[in-house]
Amino acid sequence: MRMRKKKWADPFLEEHRDYIFDDPSAYKGKWHDFFHTEELHVELGMGKGGYLIKMAEMYPKAGWIGVEKDHSAAAVAARKVIDNDLPRENHRMISGNAERLAEWFAEGEIDVLHLNFSDPWPKTYTHKRRLSSSRFLELYRLVLAENGHIEMKTDNQKLFEYSVICFLENGFTLTEISVDYRREEHPEDAVTEYEQKFIDEGKPIYRLCAVRQKECVLQ
Ligand SMILES: C[S@@+](CC[C@H](N)C(=O)[O-])C[C@H]1O[C@@H](n2cnc3c(N)ncnc32)[C@H](O)[C@@H]1O
Repeated sequence: MRMRKKKWADPFLEEHRDYIFDDPSAYKGKWHDFFHTEELHVELGMGKGGYLIKMAEMYPKAGWIGVEKDHSAAAVAARKVIDNDLPRENHRMISGNAERLAEWFAEGEIDVLHLNFSDPWPKTYTHKRRLSSSRFLELYRLVLAENGHIEMKTDNQKLFEYSVICFLENGFTLTEISVDYRREEHPEDAVTEYEQKFIDEGKPIYRLCAVRQKECVLQ
């Protein structure tokens, strides 16, 4: 469900552009140095940011960036860090559309991309907006490192099935696939806000891990 628009969001985002960027293209190709890290993780559609903040805390040696196009959600996420004065050495946020990924990240710069509970866009004519559609996967192949990979979680079976096909058709190898991921405990992977809601409703969580193939000739 879309978050209700928050009047304070835009002024708040403008005031905190040192943490939540709108156009970080000046850092393109420099993110590893920026975070002094060898591993850069980017979450697309971070929503209220709970996953990003927890994972950044759990993996302090990696650099973490959360991208969110909805300004109200992005501001709620950034506020969690700013109002609570959380340490932010290894994470930043971007309020913008993931379509602009190649403006912000250089070729091969990202090690891991996270897609958590992406919008399902159920109508056929909206499928191209899905973050796991061919249009986006082409972009991910560009910005992912040679051995980079994508971790995707969803509650939506149809979106999951669609995504499996898209990954296989767009130069990715699936190395993990689960249709009930939380059947076992996974303390190494934080639970997102949406995920917690589905766990509470007793719904299964689908998850896959897709590795970028080095060489691939697309049809
Ligand atoms: C269903 S919510 C899930 C939020 C969070 N990942 C979670 O699991 O709790 C999907 C989020 O992705 C964002 N989103 C969808 N398409 C996007 C895009 N192209 N670029 C950036 N964010 C996007 C939406 O605005 C929304 O906040």
